[in-house]
Amino acid sequence: MPERTPYIAANWKMNKTVAEAAEFIDTLLPRIAATQADVVVCAPFTALTAVVERRYGTAVKVAAQNMHEEASGAFTGEVSAPMLVELDVEAVVLGHSERRQFFGETDEVLARKVPAALAADLEPILCVGESEAARDGGETEEVLERQLQADLAAVEAADLERVVVAYEPIWAIGTGRTATPEQAQEACAFIRDVLRARGAAADRVRILYGGSMKPANAAELLALPDVDGGLIGGASLDPEDFAAIVEASG
Ligand code: PGA
Repeated sequence: MPERTPYIAANWKMNKTVAEAAEFIDTLLPRIAATQADVVVCAPFTALTAVVERRYGTAVKVAAQNMHEEASGAFTGEVSAPMLVELDVEAVVLGHSERRQFFGETDEVLARKVPAALAADLEPILCVGESEAARDGGETEEVLERQLQADLAAVEAADLERVVVAYEPIWAIGTGRTATPEQAQEACAFIRDVLRARGAAADRVRILYGGSMKPANAAELLALPDVDGGLIGGASLDPEDFAAIVEASG
């Protein structure tokens, strides 16, 4: 089985001004200088350039938190993949549950966004995850399978390994209620099985866990066989906490 490089991503959401982003990166870089992991900072659009400029020559990759599926056009307020690539952004979060819930992002739109990101050479970090009601109703796998099949419908099997998938149970996001290691492992293994059945080189796909990951629980979650990294919200706002999670991946 190929070794998968750990992938630790900070999802800042709608946090950090340019000045705050710069301060974060300046504190973070010396703390993670020796890491072997892929360290990714998902910054708001306005702070992307500040992060990109500071991370040149380091292991840090920069991601946006959303993009439009078209390259250009009459879509007021939107940002496209070529615009992100021009800034030297390398990845983009797609389908985060907050975008699905608050901004009406649908699987149908994601089915266009994921291939658009790949075509522009942006690494998609596709988020999937069940609600609390779905978990309580025993429908977790059904929800994950439906989201993966729909969102990746237009991605060729050979390209699936270029997608990073984040398993983010909605009930664990921002709640302090982290999934148990058993729940995280089971869901991430299931996601890998779905990708394998779609023809992916599934052993090469990075699958992340997200939802109240923090320094105190990161090592246990990141040691699970099918959890290759984390998408970290709240605990990624503090460079010391985020650096501690990066450290826990090694
Ligand atoms: P959280 O957020 O770590 O604050 O739970 C994770 C996410 O939404 O990506």
